[in-house]
Amino acid sequence: MVRLAVFGLLAAVASGFPSNTLSSGEKGRRQYEGPPRPPQPHETPPYGIPPPYETPPPVAPLRAQAVVDAFKVSWDGYYEYAFPMDELMPVSNNGSNSRNGWGASAIDALSTALLMNQTTTVHQMLTYIPTINWTSTDSTVSLFETTIRYLGGLLSAYDLLTGPLVHLVDNTEHVDALLTQAMHLANNLSYAFETPSGVPWNNLIFSNRTGQGATNGLATVGTLILEWVRLSDLTGNTTYANLVQRAESYLLSPSPSSSEPFPGLVGSSINVTTGLFTNARGGWGGGTDSFYEYLIKMYVYDDHRYEMLKDRWIMAADSSIKYLASRPVTRQHLTFLARYNGTELILESSHLACFHGGNFILGGTVLERQDYVDFGLELVRGCHATYTATATGIGPEAFSWNASSVPTDQLDFFHRNGFYIKDAGYQLRPEVIESYYYAYRATGDAKYQDWAWDAFLAINATTRVGSGYSSIEDVDVVGGGNFTDFQESFWFAEVLKYSYLIQAGEAEWQVVGQGNNEWVFNTEAHPVKVFGGEGGGRAGRL
Ligand SMILES: *[C@@H]1O[C@H](CO)[C@@H](O)[C@H](O)[C@H]1NC(C)=O
Ligand SMILES: *[C@@H]1O[C@H](CO)[C@@H](O)[C@H](O)[C@H]1NC(C)=O
Ligand SMILES: *[C@@H]1O[C@H](CO)[C@@H](O)[C@H](O)[C@H]1NC(C)=O
Ligand SMILES: *[C@@H]1O[C@H](CO)[C@@H](O)[C@H](O)[C@H]1NC(C)=O
Ligand SMILES: *[C@@H]1O[C@H](CO)[C@@H](O)[C@H](O)[C@H]1NC(C)=O
Ligand SMILES: *[C@@H]1O[C@H](CO)[C@@H](O)[C@H](O)[C@H]1NC(C)=O
Ligand SMILES: *[C@@H]1O[C@H](CO)[C@@H](O)[C@H](O)[C@H]1NC(C)=O
Ligand SMILES: *[C@@H]1O[C@H](CO)[C@@H](O)[C@H](O)[C@H]1NC(C)=O
Ligand SMILES: *[C@@H]1O[C@H](CO)[C@@H](O)[C@H](O)[C@H]1NC(C)=O
Ligand SMILES: *[C@@H]1O[C@H](CO)[C@@H](O)[C@H](O)[C@H]1NC(C)=O
Ligand SMILES: *[C@@H]1O[C@H](CO)[C@@H](O)[C@H](O)[C@H]1NC(C)=O
Repeated sequence: MVRLAVFGLLAAVASGFPSNTLSSGEKGRRQYEGPPRPPQPHETPPYGIPPPYETPPPVAPLRAQAVVDAFKVSWDGYYEYAFPMDELMPVSNNGSNSRNGWGASAIDALSTALLMNQTTTVHQMLTYIPTINWTSTDSTVSLFETTIRYLGGLLSAYDLLTGPLVHLVDNTEHVDALLTQAMHLANNLSYAFETPSGVPWNNLIFSNRTGQGATNGLATVGTLILEWVRLSDLTGNTTYANLVQRAESYLLSPSPSSSEPFPGLVGSSINVTTGLFTNARGGWGGGTDSFYEYLIKMYVYDDHRYEMLKDRWIMAADSSIKYLASRPVTRQHLTFLARYNGTELILESSHLACFHGGNFILGGTVLERQDYVDFGLELVRGCHATYTATATGIGPEAFSWNASSVPTDQLDFFHRNGFYIKDAGYQLRPEVIESYYYAYRATGDAKYQDWAWDAFLAINATTRVGSGYSSIEDVDVVGGGNFTDFQESFWFAEVLKYSYLIQAGEAEWQVVGQGNNEWVFNTEAHPVKVFGGEGGGRAGRL
């Protein structure tokens, strides 16, 4: 977009930031060379990773269509009863505003609707988006949630509609508004970084431009960089990138040293005044998870600028394999990753953490490291076991494999399954299916499509209610125990997208097992175009 490029250049000159002369042709990234060839007999694929099948098994299109049908039910319910509120309450046919009332589901669902070619729905979303007033909200704004859902959703739609799906929308004003609204949103949020250290506040009160909390979390600080750098690259305004890169720098060089109990694995809380970590507790679960996820995803986004993040990801991955990998005493063939407090391990994990298999697989394919792929596949198998163990076929929110703390009423369950349930809820989370997706794309093994389909069928059978799908209270009771009457916006963005993509045919946004990815998915599953020299890549290296 010429208008924005010119404005960006002016901004860069005015701000006095050095201009990085990298142009699109100079990047080392390999180009996508069409769909991969199926494995030939007696042929060892490079690094032992077989490419995805050229033609998915014949059941896949029907499965993909069933997921599209679930998307339509969920959207229609939301549109009828809740739009433009944030979420549908499917049991009471009402809406709720847990994400500031800017229509979270309408934006979180957009990239999924685009990939599914739901043109009528896309039109409904695009006519709404220019009307959002970011200034107007009664509730606390989460910098992290707003970034991954709203900013990520807008930027992804913009990339898709100025790229491979340009033919889907005639009205270029609607497409331009995606980027304009993304800028307005970031401009409303950017005061969050006005702390003494530059580590942002997460919880913002727009009405008096204040931030809350003396500390911020590892994931909430470390899961901004993809979206804000993308915005910077698309608009040429380097301030967006500089803000998040400064914040990220404290996470990459953690201090004090006690906050890094294993090389590359750090604490979970950072003082926004000093940038110092305040603890040494962490792992791959909620609160810390997507910091590690984005280290390797930034390298996928731009392997020139973010090489250092790749190095930190490798440290974290190696330490996780060496120190955190753990096998339940009653089922020695399963692998889970423990949490830690300092060097003390806590034998607990969660649905949220189950993205880790996919992240190891992504790292392994990008870095051509079969050991990471293999370890990722082991983690995928562990998370799959949490699904097959329960009465509904859906895995629990939190679980443990500490043999010394098993509640007596779960002793049988523990002996059969290797773990016991700590929190039996299911909030329409994606991570297990997300990891199946990476496993399938890297190996071409149809087993992972089957696992994703089994999970989808179980979720469809248990959580579908009223006008949509609802979170449930107990995955280990047939029927799910009780509905909590809440359809999360990430149901649209993530569960339905990964369930669909794993059964769908080749497209440029699909993850490529060999690692020559054209797109990278943010932590909310919004595909972002990998850097191709836009804006001249003016934001400097980190
Ligand atoms: C619907 O939700 C709104 C906002 O959450 C609430 O104020 C209202 O009372 C609810 N209506 C019903 C009928 O439950
Ligand atoms: C997308 O949907 C439109 C109708 O809305 C249809 O004309 C078109 O063929 C579809 N494209 C694909 C790739 O399925
Ligand atoms: C916040 O966003 C609105 C658009 O919704 C825009 O008009 C306003 O200028 C933005 N505020 C700031 C401080 O940038
Ligand atoms: C956006 O909301 C703010 C705060 O409620 C209000 O002052 C402003 O007038 C609104 N802007 C528009 C264009 O409605
Ligand atoms: C660039 O972004 C910053 C941070 O949001 C904002 O304050 C500034 O106004 C933007 N610059 C231009 C030229 O829009
Ligand atoms: C800002 O608003 C919040 C919520 O109303 C309030 O708790 C806080 O004290 C205010 N801060 C300042 C500095 O006015
Ligand atoms: C953060 O650091 C400041 C400055 O050293 C200190 O006063 C404050 O107590 C610290 N807060 C926390 C929660 O560590
Ligand atoms: C973590 O370890 C620290 C230092 O040993 C201790 O003070 C703290 O209570 C522990 N926290 C938890 C949640 O176990
Ligand atoms: C296992 O549980 C026991 C009892 O709650 C606890 O004392 C111990 O620290 C736990 N060990 C691990 C490794 O989680
Ligand atoms: C999903 O659930 C609905 C309602 O129970 C049912 O009609 C539909 O067939 C299910 N989809 C699949 C693929 O089983
Ligand atoms: C079941 O969930 C509904 C909300 O959907 C709630 O009103 C009700 O109290 C719950 N029932 C039980 C037994 O927990």
